[in-house]
Amino acid sequence: MTLRRQLALAFALFAAVPLAAALVPVSRALSGALGAEHAARLDGAAAALAGELARLGADAESAAAELARGPDAEALARDLAAGRLDPADAARRAGEWMAARGLDVLAVIEPDGRVLSSGHLPGRAGDVDPDLAPILAGPPGVATGRLVARAGPDGVVPVLALVAWAPVEPGGLRVAGGLALGGERAHRLAALTGGAVRLLGPDGAVLAEAEGPGDELPAVARRLLGGLPGAPVRLVPVGDPAAPAATVEIRVASGGLARAQLTVLGAFLAALAAGTLAAAAAGALLASRVTRPVEALRAAAARVAAGDLEARVGIAPAGELGELVRSFDAMTADLAAGRARLAQAERIAAWREVARRLAHEIKNPLTPIAMSVETLRDAKARARPDFAEIFDEGTKAIAEEVRRLKKIVDEFSRFARLPAPERAPVPPEELVQAALALFSAPPPGVAITRDVEPGLPPVLADRDQILQVLLNLVRNGLEAMPAGGRLSLSARRAPGGVAFAVTDAGPGIAAADLERIFEPYYTTKPGGTGLGLAIARRIAEEHGGALEASSRAGEGATFTLRLLEAAGTIGATGSAS
Ligand SMILES: Nc1ncnc2c1ncn2[C@@H]1O[C@H](COP(=O)(O)OP(=O)(O)OP(=O)(O)O)[C@@H](O)[C@H]1O
Ligand SMILES: [Mg+2]
Repeated sequence: MTLRRQLALAFALFAAVPLAAALVPVSRALSGALGAEHAARLDGAAAALAGELARLGADAESAAAELARGPDAEALARDLAAGRLDPADAARRAGEWMAARGLDVLAVIEPDGRVLSSGHLPGRAGDVDPDLAPILAGPPGVATGRLVARAGPDGVVPVLALVAWAPVEPGGLRVAGGLALGGERAHRLAALTGGAVRLLGPDGAVLAEAEGPGDELPAVARRLLGGLPGAPVRLVPVGDPAAPAATVEIRVASGGLARAQLTVLGAFLAALAAGTLAAAAAGALLASRVTRPVEALRAAAARVAAGDLEARVGIAPAGELGELVRSFDAMTADLAAGRARLAQAERIAAWREVARRLAHEIKNPLTPIAMSVETLRDAKARARPDFAEIFDEGTKAIAEEVRRLKKIVDEFSRFARLPAPERAPVPPEELVQAALALFSAPPPGVAITRDVEPGLPPVLADRDQILQVLLNLVRNGLEAMPAGGRLSLSARRAPGGVAFAVTDAGPGIAAADLERIFEPYYTTKPGGTGLGLAIARRIAEEHGGALEASSRAGEGATFTLRLLEAAGTIGATGSAS
């Protein structure tokens, strides 16, 4: 993994881990708050329900009490005591009173417990009402929750009612009145509690229900939140808490709160993602600031290692990395300067050597010249009879040495002032042809052969200079075979160009001398300058080629001149083709 990726990942982790760790307590705190809020709302709803039940109970109590004390009830008691009561008339009374007071349950009970008149279930007259009997057994004026069978448009059905009774004085009659909780009242309860309400009978059957504001938590949210803490439902008993006649189930809406919690959690997750992404981006950015110069440094180091001392990093960031880059660039510049100084020193040393040998070469002919002059002067002073002869010989020797001096100086100036080659594509066979044309009449005993591979590409060559090289090589080969022998000049394909080879059958060159023969003024010949091969190699190198010697003592020598082919450099020589 690259440094950039590693840094980006590390940054993202550093940002994500604390954020993710914070997510758990935040979510828990939110759930806790939500649970507490929900429980508080349920408590409030239960209190509102209890208050409403108490109010309805009180209404039933006062209605029963007021009816029992009223003149109609007294008149009924009097008629009953006097035996003047018409049963049909009595049976109607309870219905009238019930309607007048807005009650749902009303019965007039005789002292023996039988129903005299029933508003909610007229057919009960003359019988004991089993639904009301337990209430009548209790104290008067206390409303109690009961399931009471009641005749309605759908037939006789049980309704949950809060029922209270009161005595009619005198005579022992009793009036029981009650208010039912179903229907409209259930809706009122739901509105009061702010939730959904269900009335459940003792067997769990639903007697009545009313929906609340309908703000339930969606299933997805419920799953995400892992359910809400606390009871989502509260059951409030109606009547005796130990054996309630019914229970009221309240559910308060929690969806809105849960949605708020989801919103907060969503925002938190978004912040987590955004923070992680931003951190990763920052890491990548920082890494690129570090890796770009490091990459440039690596590339520059590779170039320097390959020998290119001109390589520089260039990008210089601030800080330690910048310091490193600047040191690297400075070091490379120092190396380049050092190499230039070394090359300069080497050139000076080489020229010093050349000058030393040149001086030696010049001194050699000077000795015979000085001696000849001395001899001439001496002969003249003594007026020697053979002076003419001596003069002739002496001046001949002087002239010969002067000729040699001239040759040395000429060769040296050629060596020193070698012009830059003017390269153009030249067919190799043409070069071979031209070189051998000068040896059309070889010395006696010498056989010259040529061998040019067909289809060779043209080489990039300064025709005159390359010809001079080939001539030098052929002349050296002939000079190595004074008694004659075989000499060949060949041209073959070589990597990137053509190799010309001059092979002789002379004595060869000792391994130790193979490199020395290319030094200026190295010669083993009495009249040689030792500049021939030095000049030849320089020409080859200035052509981008090479000149090498190979030999085994006693088996002749081969000189190989390599030149670049012109095809690869059409662009430079395009005009010539
Ligand atoms: N074909 C060869 N076989 C053996 N020795 C050789 C051959 N060619 C060159 N040499 C050796 O290399 C030396 C240097 O050769 P170079 O051509 O530079 O100078 P030179 O031939 O001695 O003098 P000049 O070229 O001025 O006549 C020669 O003196 C000789 O000793
Ligand atoms: Mg030579």
